Amino acid sequence: MYEVQIMGTGSFVPEQIIKNDCLSNFVDTNDEWISSRTGIKERRISSGENTSDLAIGAAKEAIEDANITADEIDLIVVATTTPDFFMPSTACLVQKGIEAYNATCFDISAACTGFIYALNVGFQFVRSGQSKTALIIGADTNSKIIDWSDRNTCVLFGDGAGAVVLRRSDEKGIIHIDTGSDGRGDELLFCPGVNVKNPFVEELDEKKQFMHMNGKEVFRFSTTVVPQTIEKLLKKSSYSIDDIKYFLLHQANARIMEAVAKKMNIDTKKFYKNIHNYGNTSAGTIPIALNEMDKGGLLKKKDLLVLAGFGGGLTWGSALVQWNK
Ligand code: COA
Repeated sequence: MYEVQIMGTGSFVPEQIIKNDCLSNFVDTNDEWISSRTGIKERRISSGENTSDLAIGAAKEAIEDANITADEIDLIVVATTTPDFFMPSTACLVQKGIEAYNATCFDISAACTGFIYALNVGFQFVRSGQSKTALIIGADTNSKIIDWSDRNTCVLFGDGAGAVVLRRSDEKGIIHIDTGSDGRGDELLFCPGVNVKNPFVEELDEKKQFMHMNGKEVFRFSTTVVPQTIEKLLKKSSYSIDDIKYFLLHQANARIMEAVAKKMNIDTKKFYKNIHNYGNTSAGTIPIALNEMDKGGLLKKKDLLVLAGFGGGLTWGSALVQWNK
């Protein structure tokens, strides 16, 4: 087995900034409610860019940061629940956009946990020797599946993408990844697909392709499952909470991060937050924040980081990473 390092990070978000107050044009809400209940102040919303455009932007920055050429990439995995098309995959669109024609490309659907799942796939491919250089992307254009008349959801989400380049290495990098799913929670957070409609099936009512969420239950689920996955992750890798420099959680709600910190008795200062600027970009939140931490000089060689995600499915997962970039 090989060691697997994160060699480069990148992110890309739409230019258009939508502040909380602007949302009161669509729904009965205000900045005070959104900020105090979620920590969100503004989010980026597409002016026409689709998920592949965001993913390509993030990929280009990660490739440059890793100091590699696109033809060295032999695997592209995109985590998204808002692909441009049912087919081709967003990963194939990224391949064309960055001209990485030596890569095998596919998408992964695990909602807001998508980046952790995709990272795990890349980790296993590189670790086993099947891949040498993998591009792993989390990208979502949530604005196209949000019901802009539903104040319970439309205030929470934004659009954006982040990427990492993984490479075979002699030094430690990704140490361990823990993932889990519970399909019994399918109705807590979902977005319908296309109805079965053909000459042999009676037409059903057209389902609206909008996201639906039971906010209270999702809050309860996330604050339960995140401590569990982190504890499992650390147990398997023989490190303790005190060894970890930063916890980078999926940015869904600042109150979720605070509740997890309190439950685990960890100083909230160790939890990196950028939710105020972007809201919840689903599979994009973790790699966007990782790129920000990297560019901001927060990460030093040998630092230990825990990344943790949760979301629709239900799904969850966490990764322990030693920063050796
Ligand atoms: N603006 C103003 N008022 C709003 C509102 C909004 N955008 N959204 C809901 N409200 C109202 C509710 O209607 C309710 O009013 P009522 O008391 O008159 O019925 C009140 O605010 C409280 O709503 P409640 O749902 O109890 O708020 P909350 O403190 O639970 O916060 C969430 C709601 C959605 C922010 C919170 O439950 C949450 O973050 N859940 C997790 C969501 C998540 O992370 N999803 C993605 C996971 S990947």
